[in-house]
Amino acid sequence: MIDVTSPDTAKPGGRLAFGVATASYQVEGATTADGRGPSIWDTFSAVPGAIADGSDGSVACGSYERLDDDLELIGGLGVDLYRFSVAWPRVQPEGSGPVESRGLDYYNRLVDGLLARGIRPLPTLYHWDLPQPLEDAGGWPVRDTAERFADYAAIVAGRIGDRVEQWATLNEPWCSAFLGYAAGIHAPGRREPEAAYAAAHHLLLGHALAGGRLRDAGDVGIVLNLYPVWQENHDAAAAAAAVDAIQNRLWLDPLLQGRYPEDIVSMAPHLANGPLVRDGDLDLVSGSLDWLGVNYYTPHRVAAGAENGGGSDQLPPAFFPGAPPFRFAPRDPRTTMGWEIEPRGLEELLVGLSQQAPHLPMMVTENGAALDDASRRDDGSVDDPDRIAYLREHIGAVQRARAAGADVRAYLAWTLLDNFEWAEGYRKTFGLVEVEQGTLRRIPKASYEWFAQQVHADGLIP
Ligand code: FCB
Repeated sequence: MIDVTSPDTAKPGGRLAFGVATASYQVEGATTADGRGPSIWDTFSAVPGAIADGSDGSVACGSYERLDDDLELIGGLGVDLYRFSVAWPRVQPEGSGPVESRGLDYYNRLVDGLLARGIRPLPTLYHWDLPQPLEDAGGWPVRDTAERFADYAAIVAGRIGDRVEQWATLNEPWCSAFLGYAAGIHAPGRREPEAAYAAAHHLLLGHALAGGRLRDAGDVGIVLNLYPVWQENHDAAAAAAAVDAIQNRLWLDPLLQGRYPEDIVSMAPHLANGPLVRDGDLDLVSGSLDWLGVNYYTPHRVAAGAENGGGSDQLPPAFFPGAPPFRFAPRDPRTTMGWEIEPRGLEELLVGLSQQAPHLPMMVTENGAALDDASRRDDGSVDDPDRIAYLREHIGAVQRARAAGADVRAYLAWTLLDNFEWAEGYRKTFGLVEVEQGTLRRIPKASYEWFAQQVHADGLIP
């Protein structure tokens, strides 16, 4: 098994570790099995119009009941790492108090199954499925949620921590805070910009408190969706700075330097010290990282002049509360998400991060493409040369960033299986494997076979 924490994997030209990622609500289904409590995504998916195709995660890929099938597929890739998330409402149906050991059993078996195949488990403790009772008590805008998260992290570590070496606390807290509490297009669907900033602080605090409880059980990281921000016209300087602040620096500055950026504090004055940000909070947050997870799909090109985020299908308005008017201006080619394909953005991002935090190892914890997958091979399986090209070019970008000195240890493709793509439902497919509707049969795409070869080629681009 490759040690992704050993400097050896970081050497330019040394071996890059490979993996594949999923998230609990997107793949597991079985949302009422074995005592699992409701999460904010069960509730939100039931709101008419919230999910583009009217679907939800109650069946998803059926992974809760198909663990052996999934292990077989992951094993067939020959990857070093598998990133999955633990569903908090399976472990603590109420979000606090009683522990449901049957829910924990599933992750216990998953970890054992991975290790038996020589694959390192990389659990993420929070990939957006907050137990509904915690949202009913106020959700992430309330400080108590951060404390409850730390308790839950300790419970999971108590069960699988003897076999886990790296932990990710949160996945993409920007999405939890701003899609969930400002734009309202993700669960819990609230449109309260001030609450979004409070959520941001409590997510960071929750990460740090959980990290304190996990450190004895392994290395602690957070997974951020970071973007290079490219200013498209000269009037867009202020907007580009605000997008960079909310998307990137709101998270990186407290984690790396123990303070919120000045321009964020002027957009969200309650992030200055006070009832929200208590003495000592930012000390806990800074220095809480042993490694950084970077999710990258596309750059942000910011042009002046329209409603926030309007004018493109990349993001609807109200995602960046406090930013001056702007629009995103993605260029072609784009994926079916409307996201520009630009591997140069990943290289720039990784090199920039390595300059800001030279001693912090990084992993690319997600990267991949939603495509229409219309073309079929003779055996009926998906022929997806565009996904292969996307992955190949982005792995190339990682290799160039490593050659330029960035300490990137691993590259994980998003995602193993076509799954429940949040507000988009099942129509946007990112998988290396197709999941047949109804039967849930797994059918590997051409990209699955290509990725397996890539892994065996020892990190060298064919
Ligand atoms: C990321 C999420 C992941 C998946 C991809 C496409 O924002 O972390 O769950 O939806 O986007």
